[in-house]
Amino acid sequence: MVKYLQHKFALSHDGAVDMIKACISVTVTNIALMMSAEILYLLISDMLGDGLTAERLPVYIGGSIAVIALIWVTNFIQYNKTFLATYKESGVRRTTLAERLRKLPLSFFGKKDLSDLTTTIMSDCAMIETASSHWIPELIGALVSTALVGISMFFFFDWRMVLASFWVIPASFLLIFFSANLQKKAVRKNNSVKMELADGIQEALESVRDLRSNNAQNRYMSGLDVKIKNVEKYALFTELKLAVFVNAAAIILKVGIATTALVGGALFASGEIGLLTFFMFLMLVARLYDPMNITLQNFAAIIACTVQCERLDEVLSHDIQTSSDRMTNNGYDIKFDHVSFSYSNDTAVLKDVSFTAKQGEVTALIGPSGGGKTTVSRLAARFWDISGGKITLGGMDISGVDPETLFSAYSIVFQDVTLFNQTVMDNIRIGRKNATDEEVMQAAKLANCDEFVSKLPDGYNTMIGENGSELSGGERQRISIARAFLKDAPVILLDEATASLDVENETAIQQALSALIKNKTVLIIAHRMRTIADADHIVVLGDGVVAEEGTPDELYKKNGIYRRMTEQQLVSQNWKM
Ligand SMILES: Nc1ncnc2c1ncn2[C@@H]1O[C@H](COP(=O)(O)OP(=O)(O)OP(=O)(O)O)[C@@H](O)[C@H]1O
Ligand SMILES: [Mg+2]
Repeated sequence: MVKYLQHKFALSHDGAVDMIKACISVTVTNIALMMSAEILYLLISDMLGDGLTAERLPVYIGGSIAVIALIWVTNFIQYNKTFLATYKESGVRRTTLAERLRKLPLSFFGKKDLSDLTTTIMSDCAMIETASSHWIPELIGALVSTALVGISMFFFFDWRMVLASFWVIPASFLLIFFSANLQKKAVRKNNSVKMELADGIQEALESVRDLRSNNAQNRYMSGLDVKIKNVEKYALFTELKLAVFVNAAAIILKVGIATTALVGGALFASGEIGLLTFFMFLMLVARLYDPMNITLQNFAAIIACTVQCERLDEVLSHDIQTSSDRMTNNGYDIKFDHVSFSYSNDTAVLKDVSFTAKQGEVTALIGPSGGGKTTVSRLAARFWDISGGKITLGGMDISGVDPETLFSAYSIVFQDVTLFNQTVMDNIRIGRKNATDEEVMQAAKLANCDEFVSKLPDGYNTMIGENGSELSGGERQRISIARAFLKDAPVILLDEATASLDVENETAIQQALSALIKNKTVLIIAHRMRTIADADHIVVLGDGVVAEEGTPDELYKKNGIYRRMTEQQLVSQNWKM
């Protein structure tokens, strides 16, 4: 039971136990509330019959106090087990989700888009929060208590009256239950159009500069309009679908009043039941059906919520990268051994790639755009798992090592720099979180950041805007290089690290780099041949295979791709504008 709830509503173990306790306390509260009506019934029938005797009075008073006390206690438990426990559970769920996301392979994020994940973390969690704090315990409580009252009345009152007033409850719930699949389909469609809109808005905001410069704003906005209309259309459609079933079920409930009146009238006329019993059943249906109506709506909402739970469960039950957190490498040579890889199953990005980047050497990866250079550098740090072959670091197969542990051995400068909306100091400190301010500034100096940082209004304490939007491309790149200097790891991966720098800055940074990379394994990717002229070893990647390999001199003599690229760049450098 606990396991089932855990899976069905994406709960923790404690959360599932608390939900069961909440259901029980709601049930008891409901029964206690009905018992008060029972006491009233007995009191009236006593008064109408033999009259209220002195011995009976304390029993009624005692009974009433006991019922009030019971309601008070169960309400307290309910409050504790639903509201408080739910907020605790929500915190646990979000943390579990975040922990899980940290351990998922990057390929998972390639398949899922960001707005989908954000929705899962924010709104799905919030919806499940309401479901587990209110809808589910209230639904279960209402159903169980109604069933118990129905069964007990079966024994104490006329069974035909019980049938006449209770038959509508299972009938209306069954109607909602059988419409579940239709509703889920509508909710899924609704979710997907909402997601398309969220994606569209995010994309529009991120690419507003490109859209304006290409005069594509109006065209893009009209596409966005269609998405907004779609969301409106499907939201209405989903609501309507839900309303059709919930209203039909509510009408069935109302029919119960008529059947109770008809059957009760007939039985009263034939003298089989008394006026009080008839009256009590009429009171009962009036008291029972309204909350049942709300419970029906809760039931429909829970069905819709299970779609959200499925999405959450998909993240929570996705395989994580299983690996050890112990490094057993001997040195830091990176070896690609017949490696093949594809981002999606259909197109192979790397086919049978083999080469070694030795410790103490600079290995350059070059080749045409889209040839797979960035992919190789990311695979070297286990950003993705390969589909064939083996990658080793100092003889240790990296597929067996936890990525976070592995990353401790890598300083990486990415082709697309990511900066955070924090100060320059904090952005560099990402390289090593316990570095002192002096160490950060030392690294910044090596990466030639000093000169531009000193011009910022607050120096190292200047906020740099979302993804460093207030900095130039070269400045962003230098911050990223400073991070690598600060981390000072044994393996250095530089993907177009100096591509947006002017010659002066590049030369200065390369000098600093040459001090940093002593005795380390360096894998450098560059389009500018000048950047890699001093490399010890060059690997030319083209079309996912190693096309050429050797020292710059050997490759130059070979008269192949490397030589052609070098000569072409010399020609373009000599262009007269
Ligand atoms: N995240 C991704 N998902 C799917 N395909 C990808 C992804 N990243 C790259 N690719 C594809 O893999 C191929 C190799 O890309 P990669 O980025 O490794 O090339 P590259 O040699 O670094 O190119 P460039 O010199 O332009 O940076 C390309 O065809 C690209 O479209
Ligand atoms: Mg690249």
